[in-house]
Amino acid sequence: MSQPTSFPKSDIRVLLLEGVSATAVESFRAAGYSQVRTFEKALPVEQLHRELADAHLVGIRSRTQLDAEALSHARRVIAIGAFCIGTNQIDLEAAEVAGIPVFNAPYSNTRSVAELVVAEAIMLMRGIPQKNAQCHRGGWSKSAAGSHEVRGKTIGIIGYGHIGTQVGVIAEALGMQVLFHDIEAKLSLGNARAAAGLDDLLARSDVVTLHVPETPATQGMFGPGQIARMKPGAHLINASRGTVVDIDALAAAMKSGHVGGAAVDVFPVEPQGNADVFESPLVGLDNALLTPHIGGSTLEAQDNIGLEVAAKLIRYSDNGSTLSAVNFPEVTLPEHTGSTRLLHIHRNVPGVLSQVNEVFSRLGVNIDGQFLRTHAKVGYVVIDITATQDQADEVREQLAKIPGTLRTRVLY
Ligand code: NAI
Repeated sequence: MSQPTSFPKSDIRVLLLEGVSATAVESFRAAGYSQVRTFEKALPVEQLHRELADAHLVGIRSRTQLDAEALSHARRVIAIGAFCIGTNQIDLEAAEVAGIPVFNAPYSNTRSVAELVVAEAIMLMRGIPQKNAQCHRGGWSKSAAGSHEVRGKTIGIIGYGHIGTQVGVIAEALGMQVLFHDIEAKLSLGNARAAAGLDDLLARSDVVTLHVPETPATQGMFGPGQIARMKPGAHLINASRGTVVDIDALAAAMKSGHVGGAAVDVFPVEPQGNADVFESPLVGLDNALLTPHIGGSTLEAQDNIGLEVAAKLIRYSDNGSTLSAVNFPEVTLPEHTGSTRLLHIHRNVPGVLSQVNEVFSRLGVNIDGQFLRTHAKVGYVVIDITATQDQADEVREQLAKIPGTLRTRVLY
């Protein structure tokens, strides 16, 4: 079913749920979108469906479930923004086959994680988790034994991506030696050096920190063997994913003293919400610095997410660019000043493109530029033309009639 959309910005209704950051609201207003409706919380299902039916651009965080049923109400929605990192709360395939790109902000909280990790490296090397626990129990163990400056010590970074590189840069500024291990060849920043392999990194690092994604290859990649190859008394930080580390093996090594201390932010099983009880083999160990998966949770990160996702939605709405959409053919587009742009989203079946081109030749409209990307199920073609508004509207109407068309839009 085709849903034609071609209207001025002032008619585009933006719906932002779950207290999406004010930076997003400001971005939309600054870009000329005056109809921005905000809700502080996730909406009850029926109200959500009603609101979706009226909205053109939708922003949610992690609590709003946009399943196939909810998306069936989103008849006018042209794009969805997940103002968070994950997109599990959205049925991405249902959105794609409805012609709706979904955008998120995978790297807005990179700095927040990196700062926490470096702070934890300092805390661990000073034995602060144990000292803090003792003081809370009325103990007083004033001693320099086992306490070290981080200056001149080696931090081993496993996974030298967005977060890993930032950790390296900040650690180096504190005078640490930076070693890293990655499965890809990576350009090192500053004086960081690639280790000869994971075992080499483990043998040389005073603090080991994990920054790998959750993949089949990283599940349990840090088990008893890797822990045994760490330097005696070295520390471990995991703010990546809970499944990466064998937590029972870590607990055993922390009890034996082979691992001096650990800072852990992510767990194999995490409570669903703040009302649930947290359980872990690390609970009760004085040398464990435990945090409830808040590595990326800062107000600055929220503001960055607001800016990043709003910018992606605005770009798509104004320009048609789907760069970095998580579920959609990615098209990067130049500005279209001086020409009119038509967007045609269709099921990826044979013959659609020739019918699209046939519309232009039939109506005698010359094509200035054409951009096409396809996924298995959906194709996205963008056509720039020099035409009057009436001609463009006529072209769009004809494009909307092509069998397999999901959505069409015209950007004047
Ligand atoms: P990224 O994708 O930029 O970097 C990951 C790096 O790990 C890449 O360079 C990749 O080549 C490398 N890698 C993949 N498999 C590997 C393996 N088996 N061995 C060694 N290296 C491997 O990801 P980013 O943004 O740096 O995030 C890293 C992790 O941090 C992710 O697991 C992410 O979920 C987690 N994270 C945790 C947060 C928290 O609140 N604790 C917040 C944000 C991210």
